[in-house]
Amino acid sequence: MNSPLLLGVNIDHVATLRQARYRTMLGAHNVEPSILEAALTAEAAGAHSITIHLRADRRHIVDEDVYLLREKIGTLLNLEMGNTAEILAIALQVKPDFVCMVPENREEVTTEGGLDVVGQKNALQSSVSQLEANGTRVSMFIDPDLDQVRASAEIGASMIELHTGTFANEQGAQRAQETLRLQAAAELGHSLGLQINAGHGLTTKNLPELFSVPHLAELNIGHSIVARSVFVGLRQAIEEFAAIMSRYPHA
Ligand code: PXP
Repeated sequence: MNSPLLLGVNIDHVATLRQARYRTMLGAHNVEPSILEAALTAEAAGAHSITIHLRADRRHIVDEDVYLLREKIGTLLNLEMGNTAEILAIALQVKPDFVCMVPENREEVTTEGGLDVVGQKNALQSSVSQLEANGTRVSMFIDPDLDQVRASAEIGASMIELHTGTFANEQGAQRAQETLRLQAAAELGHSLGLQINAGHGLTTKNLPELFSVPHLAELNIGHSIVARSVFVGLRQAIEEFAAIMSRYPHA
């Protein structure tokens, strides 16, 4: 029996809701919803880690959120970041438990596509070694592409997070095809000693189909949890995901 499949809850969209109203008055007494309350609720509901993405444009999570969560949460902090000097300096100061390196461009609605580790090997290697030496385990958010998996191992990352966006958006034969790619990437990554995580676009409906992918350690899920929580509350939304994840057959 391996370890259970763990859940990282991405609370960026709780901050999206806050920013929709209070972007220009974040210190005010009446700001809501609270990012910290969301994180603590997620922990109480069984989250293994709290994931936040500090974007260059600070469209949802802002610097103060990162410092507050680092201080107050009882589980593990997973910081998603683009590989820029500005955000790297913050990550080195904050020392999150995990960093997930993601591609980032200003116009995108959400992270689109995986990181090109093959094409940015030197720049990524430098950040990975600084973070890992500083006590943070680093993950590469990549498409299920075997060259990207190999490059992630070569630059010294501890983990990869397989981008499940195409899997989630496709259906039928295309989804089956993408599932095969995810399986192959997970097999290769595991054989190279990488921890295998996955995320993007996962829902309670598509999760069971992902379960044919072996070696999964942790899933990072945000949008669907926050969307569901509008109707049933954050705690129940997370418990619904956790109940399905407990049926992962490779754990
Ligand atoms: N993993 C990474 C690297 C992401 O960038 C995101 C989106 O912020 C997620 C997981 C979560 O995706 P979703 O919000 O679609 O569940």
